[in-house]
Amino acid sequence: MLRRVLRPARRLPLWIVLPIAAALLLEVLIHRYHYQVPAPDHDLDPPFFTSCQEPDVGAPRENAVLVMMARNSELEKANKTITSIEKAFNRWFKYPIVFMNDEAWDPKFIKVLNQTSGGKATFEVIPQPQWTFPEWMDDKAAKQSIKDQGRRGIPHADSEGYHHMCRFYSGQFYQLEALKKYRWYWRLEPDVDFSCAITYDPFVQMAKHNKVYGFTIALWEIGTTCPTLFRDMADWMEVHRITQNNLWKAMVQASWVPYPFRKFLSFMAHRDRHGDEWSMCHYWSNFEIADMNFFRTREYMDLFEYLDRKGGFYFERWGDAAVHALAVAMLVDPRKVHHFEDLGYRHDQLYQCPANAPGGQLLGSKALGDGTWAPEIEGGIGCRCECDGRKTRNHPGYCLNKLKQPNSPKRPWLTWFM
Ligand SMILES: *[C@@H]1O[C@H](CO)[C@@H](O)[C@H](O)[C@H]1NC(C)=O
Ligand SMILES: *[C@@H]1O[C@H](CO)[C@@H](O)[C@H](O)[C@H]1NC(C)=O
Repeated sequence: MLRRVLRPARRLPLWIVLPIAAALLLEVLIHRYHYQVPAPDHDLDPPFFTSCQEPDVGAPRENAVLVMMARNSELEKANKTITSIEKAFNRWFKYPIVFMNDEAWDPKFIKVLNQTSGGKATFEVIPQPQWTFPEWMDDKAAKQSIKDQGRRGIPHADSEGYHHMCRFYSGQFYQLEALKKYRWYWRLEPDVDFSCAITYDPFVQMAKHNKVYGFTIALWEIGTTCPTLFRDMADWMEVHRITQNNLWKAMVQASWVPYPFRKFLSFMAHRDRHGDEWSMCHYWSNFEIADMNFFRTREYMDLFEYLDRKGGFYFERWGDAAVHALAVAMLVDPRKVHHFEDLGYRHDQLYQCPANAPGGQLLGSKALGDGTWAPEIEGGIGCRCECDGRKTRNHPGYCLNKLKQPNSPKRPWLTWFM
C-alpha cells in the first residue's frame, strides 16, 4: 500500500497529451487570427492632397474653430504657435480661435494674441466646476496619490492641473459653452510649429470625406500613466456589446497563452479581462482635427462618465490622448479616421514632416508668394515644407499603419513591429 502511494505518478499517455496540446495550439491560433488585421491592397486613407493648392478663400467654410488652452505664462509659446498657423494656414481661411485658461486672462496675453490671430479671437475662462476633482471624490486621497505618482516619476503626474486638464479634454471640453455653436475643432498647443503650407481647408475635406477624427502623430503611450485604462475601456465595450472593428483589433496584441489560462494574465496592466493586451498605440492629441458631434454623442458621454467614476484621471494619470484614441478605436469606423500625413507638425521634441512634392509647389502663386523650401523628393507629398523631408518623422514607429497601408517597399510592413 505504502509503496504504491510513494511511487511517482505515471506519466499521462501520449494519446491524451497530444490531442490536448493540439487543441490548445489550435485555440491560440484561432484566437490570434481573430485579431489579425490584413494589410489592404491599396491605401485606404490617402492624403486629401499631395501638392500645393491655390487656397480657395472664396469657398464656404465649415462650422469650425481653432482652440488652444494656455496659461498666461505661456504667452510667447502661444504667440509662436499662432504665428506659425497664421503663416501656414489661417491667413487664408480666417477661422475663429478660442483660447482657454483655467485662470483669469492677463490683459497682455489678450492684447498680443488678439493681434497675432487673423481670425476672430476670444478668450475664455474654464468654469471652476469643470476644473476640479469630481464631487464624490476624496480630494485629500487624490492629492496624496498625485504626490505619490510624482515621486514614482510618472510624466506630468505630479501636477494637479495636468490631471484636471486631461480629464477636461476627455469630456467636458466638448460641452464648453463657448464651443457649443461649433461642430469641428482643431486643437493647438503652445510651442507648436506647422512647417508646411496648408493650402486647403482640412475641415471641409474632413466633412467631404466623411471623417470624424484626424491626427498627425500616432505613437506609444507611456504605460505607467494608465495601467487600468484599457481594462476599463474593454469592460465597458463588452457590457455595451460593441463589436471589435479593425481599428480596435489593430490596437490589441493578442495573447499567445491559450484559453482558459490567458485569463490569468488579466490582472496585469493594459490587459482586458480575457488577458489580451493593448499595444499602447494612441494618437498624440495635442494635434486633433475632429468632429465634436462624435464626442457629444450619448454613447461617448456615457463612456466618459464611466471612466470618470473609475477615478483614473486622478489615481492614475490617464491622458486624454489615450482616452480619445481608445474611444475612437472602439466607436468609430476605421475609414472615418484620417492621418494628416501631408502636414508638417512639431510639438516638444517630436515631429512629422513630409518631403516636398516634386513639381507640386505652385510656383508663381500669388497667395503663396515666393520663398524657399526644402528639396523636392520623389514620393514627397508636402507643400513648401521647411524641414528636411528625408526624415519624415523622429518618433519610433508609426503605429496603426497596418490598418490602412498596403505592404510596399516604401512603407515596409515591418515598421509595424518596431
Ligand atoms: C507675437 O508674434 C508676432 C508675430 O506674429 C510678433 O511680431 C510679436 O513681437 C510677438 N509678440 C510677443 C510678445 O512675443
Ligand atoms: C481684438 O482686436 C480687435 C481689433 O483690433 C478688437 O475689435 C477686439 O475687441 C479685440 N478683442 C479682444 C478680445 O480684445
